[in-house]
Amino acid sequence: MAIQHLFELPFPVFMLGFVGLSCAIYIVRFISDVIVNIFFSPLSEFPGPKLAAATTWWSAYQQAIRGRSMHHICMSLHEKYGDIVRIGPSRLHFNHPSMYDEIYRRRWDKDPFMYALLGGDGATVTFVKYEDNKRRKDILHTFFAKSSVYNVQWLIQENFCGHLGKHNERGVSSDMTLGFRCLGLETITATCFGKSASCFEYEGFASPILQAMESIVAWFMVFKHFGLFRRVILSIPDLLEEAVALVIAGTDTTGSTLTIGTYQVLRKPEIYKKLKAKLLEAWPNLEQRPNAGDLEKLPYLTAVIKEALRMAPTTTSENSRVVPAQGATIGGKHIPGGTIVSMGVLFPMQHEDAFTDARVYNPDRWLIFRGVFPGA
Ligand code: HEM
Repeated sequence: MAIQHLFELPFPVFMLGFVGLSCAIYIVRFISDVIVNIFFSPLSEFPGPKLAAATTWWSAYQQAIRGRSMHHICMSLHEKYGDIVRIGPSRLHFNHPSMYDEIYRRRWDKDPFMYALLGGDGATVTFVKYEDNKRRKDILHTFFAKSSVYNVQWLIQENFCGHLGKHNERGVSSDMTLGFRCLGLETITATCFGKSASCFEYEGFASPILQAMESIVAWFMVFKHFGLFRRVILSIPDLLEEAVALVIAGTDTTGSTLTIGTYQVLRKPEIYKKLKAKLLEAWPNLEQRPNAGDLEKLPYLTAVIKEALRMAPTTTSENSRVVPAQGATIGGKHIPGGTIVSMGVLFPMQHEDAFTDARVYNPDRWLIFRGVFPGA
């Protein structure tokens, strides 16, 4: 049929034909992409589920529909396939601690797909270009200098502990999960913006800001895999601001690590007793509080905190990076340029080759390993 006759067809027939043809083109394109991705991609040699290699819809389905976290998916994939696993047409995930520095001690850009989830390219956490990220960090550096943090230690001593004391006097228990998150939020707003978020004013630390943040989290997986939806929502002004990113980056992270650390100390009486004894040694007169600098010098307290960070580094996301055009070697394998590589912090922290009995909360390991592990 000549092309001009197409336009003489009745409109519904024309539309039906148009939609049918578009679908056919999409399906052919999809099938050819799947074949190329599985059999002819430079990543074809890496093991992993065939569906993951075939299409990005595999991880979208796993996370958004089946509700599985990428962290758990990768853990089970590593058990089955080894230390390097293909988790997408252009994605590899790594497992062994020796590979961590090979990815993160480089000046590689972040993966735009993953970091768009956190609000686009406008804050330190989300800048995907290494140079942009560094420029912003150089500016923020002063906020996170020790002296700035020491300046807000009264938040813990007076506000946080003050409220815990009041709860105690009234015989009510304190919700430490909310309390620690309030503390995180207050510390960031005080350090970075010189303002209080008034979290502690709410009964049981139930600040509406924290509740609002909680409800955002549920939307993250939808945001991650449905880009158009994300762009519409995030076009609302101010959400892209560094301030919001910092509040999000610093509140739940700090809150969860402190909650899990406290839980671990309380469930092990021997650790609790030892920590209490060490604190009383350094703080014999309860009326005279030590400052943060004095507390930092206590090796056992430091070990308790390090072990909490090791067990609960909080972020389970992939922290993906883009391999530069010339490619790179990771785990002894050549990784082609443009590949998205990731590991996440929990993998090296909970690997038996780095930490014996890695699933056990044991602050002593930091004292024993002192001098062996850098920074212990
Ligand atoms: C226990 C507490 C915390 C944990 C476990 C934690 C964990 C992490 C991790 C794993 C990353 C790397 C993410 C990536 O590579 O994509 C990161 C990045 C970042 N975090 Fe935290 N964080 C904590 C507290 C905070 C706080 C209190 C703030 C500030 C208010 C903060 C601000 C940032 C920023 C700005 C980045 C981006 C750094 C960069 O891109 O170079 N974090 N954090």
